Amino acid sequence: MSAAEQNPLLEGLRLRRRPDPCILVIFGASGDLTSKKLMPALYALAVRDLLPEKFGVVGAARTQETNDDFRARMKEAVQQHARDPFDEETWSKLATGMRYVTLDFADDKGEDELKDVLTSLDEEQGTSGNRVYYFAVPPSAIGTLVDEIAQRRNAEGWIRLVIEKPFGHDLASAKALTAEIKQHFAEDEVFRIDHYLGKETVQNMLALRFANGIFEPIWNRQFIDHVQITVAESIGIENRAGYYEQAGAIRDIFQNHLLQLVAITAMEPPIDFSADSVRNEKVKVLKAIHTPGPKHLVRGQYGPGFVEGEQVRGYREEEGVAPGSMTETFVAAKLYVDNWRWADTPFYVRMGKRLARRETTIAIQFKRAPHPPFEDGAAEGLRPNVLLIHVQPNEGVSLAIGAKVPGQGMTIRTVHMDFLYGGTFREGLPDAYERLILDAMLGDQTLFTRSDEIEEQWALVDAIIGLWQRDRPSFPNYAAGTWGPAASDELVHRDGRSWRRH
Ligand code: NDP
Ligand code: BG6
Repeated sequence: MSAAEQNPLLEGLRLRRRPDPCILVIFGASGDLTSKKLMPALYALAVRDLLPEKFGVVGAARTQETNDDFRARMKEAVQQHARDPFDEETWSKLATGMRYVTLDFADDKGEDELKDVLTSLDEEQGTSGNRVYYFAVPPSAIGTLVDEIAQRRNAEGWIRLVIEKPFGHDLASAKALTAEIKQHFAEDEVFRIDHYLGKETVQNMLALRFANGIFEPIWNRQFIDHVQITVAESIGIENRAGYYEQAGAIRDIFQNHLLQLVAITAMEPPIDFSADSVRNEKVKVLKAIHTPGPKHLVRGQYGPGFVEGEQVRGYREEEGVAPGSMTETFVAAKLYVDNWRWADTPFYVRMGKRLARRETTIAIQFKRAPHPPFEDGAAEGLRPNVLLIHVQPNEGVSLAIGAKVPGQGMTIRTVHMDFLYGGTFREGLPDAYERLILDAMLGDQTLFTRSDEIEEQWALVDAIIGLWQRDRPSFPNYAAGTWGPAASDELVHRDGRSWRRH
């Protein structure tokens, strides 16, 4: 029995057809994402026998490497980062179809060489001219590459372009990139990745809301007091200063992952689970988000501190960061989704690096019971009902309810009903990239973002950045290992509420 047959978590995947033969071309193959995520995800798919029967991988970047160097480096990456124990036979099968091309995107010669390598790999592996081009590169490099690919397009075989976030640097550049891509490729050939959409727990939000009759009737302003979304990371910027100094927290996570979580939480039920139906509903939410006023926005930058017991340096002391950098590493905001379902219901959101711990949660806090008929003091320990979606870690869902403390009298306390993935399903959760790479090969765009979604996200972010031009906060304004600047707490306290502490 194959791993896929033994594994109930893969039930859904097994029911899907196997992808057509194809070659996956990774631009940015010398980068962090390829080693940490893409190659381990491919290996996990190979272990579960989910890759196309005829398959090849070509890495491309400026760094000089031979095919053997590339294979050796990728093997090490898999040994270090894959979620499965290393199996030489599975690896060898995958590595046989692996090639590397040294290529500067600004240089035509490398593109010609890439085309030759692809043609000969087609002959060897039987991949029929089908291509998935994965752009694991900074947004500025994408336009040129897209033109080059279009010029060398084969008559036979399909093409899919998988483009990493952030898509563009602002609304104008995102629109320009879309226009450039549209000259050569149709929207159904473009897969804009936001890997949060590939996370099991994010997809489970859709299952929770739309596969259960009990939540939808109360999923609105009448019953919900407010929503809190936290995307907290304990890591700093690692070795990505070059990228992060340009992006900051607002472009790195707020513009994409965080706004997608808001959209999934707030969207109307789609008429079906097709890519366009789901994306139509998300885009309506994004359009309905008000630009928050300056009082409803907080930005921060970490200074030195202690994270999980270890002393760490401040952002300005990180390698490659300018000593007086004004790049934000934390953002909190109070957002309103201006429609019938959510009018006047705040969505408090916050995200940042070097916070107290890694934790992504969506908390739906319900209104208090209107008239608890208990004696004075009986319900003092009772907090409002909260539905808490643990996106990561400790993936699961928890519902806080009031329950009677056993014994004489009537004392009520908050208890939790928990569903934990780890306790219910046998195998560890697949990484988001496994799902998304497979979906791109299958041509399923449901978990990818459409150009209009991206444009709505940028419109909001551009407006926020515009507001930020008016002042110059005093950075750093939070110590590493805390929950961000004091102003983030004030944002919520002003409304008589507080951030959840778990
Ligand atoms: P890195 O800086 O580590 O890698 C960038 C890659 O692009 C390198 O392989 C570099 O190759 C290549 N590259 C850049 N410019 C050129 C050029 N002109 N010609 C040829 N190759 C070029 O970035 P990451 O891997 O971290 O990120 C890549 C993308 O993935 C970004 O858009 C990021 O937002 C996104 N992403 C990253 C995540 C992560 O965890 N790292 C998570 C989610 C998304 P070389 O230097 O050899 O030329
Ligand atoms: C990436 C950001 O998109 O997401 C990184 O560029 C961040 O800065 C990462 O660390 C977080 O992803 P995850 O899956 O670990 O929450």
